[in-house]
Amino acid sequence: MTLDGRHVLVTGAARGLGAVLARVLADAGARLVLADIAEEEGRAVAADVGGHFLPVDLADPASIDALGQAVAAHTGGVLHGLVNNGAIATNVGGKTFEEIEIETWDRVMGVNVRGTWLMVRAMAPLLRASGSGRIVNVASDTAIWGAPKLLSYVASKGAVISMTRSLARELGPDSVGVTAIAPGILTTPSTDYVPEARHRHYADGRAVPGPHAPEEVADTVAFLLGGGALSLTGQVLPVNKGFVFG
Ligand SMILES: NC(=O)c1ccc[n+]([C@@H]2O[C@H](COP(=O)([O-])OP(=O)(O)OC[C@H]3O[C@@H](n4cnc5c(N)ncnc54)[C@H](O)[C@@H]3O)[C@@H](O)[C@H]2O)c1
Repeated sequence: MTLDGRHVLVTGAARGLGAVLARVLADAGARLVLADIAEEEGRAVAADVGGHFLPVDLADPASIDALGQAVAAHTGGVLHGLVNNGAIATNVGGKTFEEIEIETWDRVMGVNVRGTWLMVRAMAPLLRASGSGRIVNVASDTAIWGAPKLLSYVASKGAVISMTRSLARELGPDSVGVTAIAPGILTTPSTDYVPEARHRHYADGRAVPGPHAPEEVADTVAFLLGGGALSLTGQVLPVNKGFVFG
């Protein structure tokens, strides 16, 4: 897989799946811009993989617009790939639908749903300018199989899946492909809180039994960012080693 010379922006790149994506996409030849609210960790990842770090708060529309301008200045007005990976994915589980606070619901929706929309809006001119823009939205297979006690997160990822389909139709005429991946539970720090028995349940339920490493998900993202993946626009790929099927 080669992404040689393609400018790719990854949000939420300071840790977890995003940091792994940064490493794998850099190895594939991408010229990376990494964005995150966690500046110190984000800059360290960027230094490690040879990328350029820019701060962003996905909850803040003005911050996203400023990121758009900063990316344009850095890349010369062109972006080949956008990975909407940044999200509130930690500390949102464990409460029933009757227990979730309104504040938590709004915060998760603000970052995961509105943030994804505004990122696409901010980057669309740059993606169009590339002539072969690709967007990969990181959803979750919890939105497909209906994970309990995770409603705000599941709802947000369901929205990401729906937005992927509509955006694919709006951006398709400009040859910008939009796909979503729906990973299962990964071996990232954000899932450390999940009890060992639950990890085992997922591991045993996969068509390919065992844990799922973020590196394996990153390989799929690298493919989706490439020129050859336009045929998959609008599709949602459960990248979960066969825990649920699309
Ligand atoms: N880890 C999993 O098992 C798993 C499974 C399915 C999907 N996902 C998805 O993969 C993506 C990455 O998950 P992860 O496990 O690495 O989570 P994580 O919590 O470790 O990382 C999320 C990143 O997003 C950043 N972020 C959060 N709020 C932000 C904001 N307001 N502005 C800018 N950046 C912000 C964080 O600083 C962090 O670097 C998420 O979209 C998550 O929903 C993860």
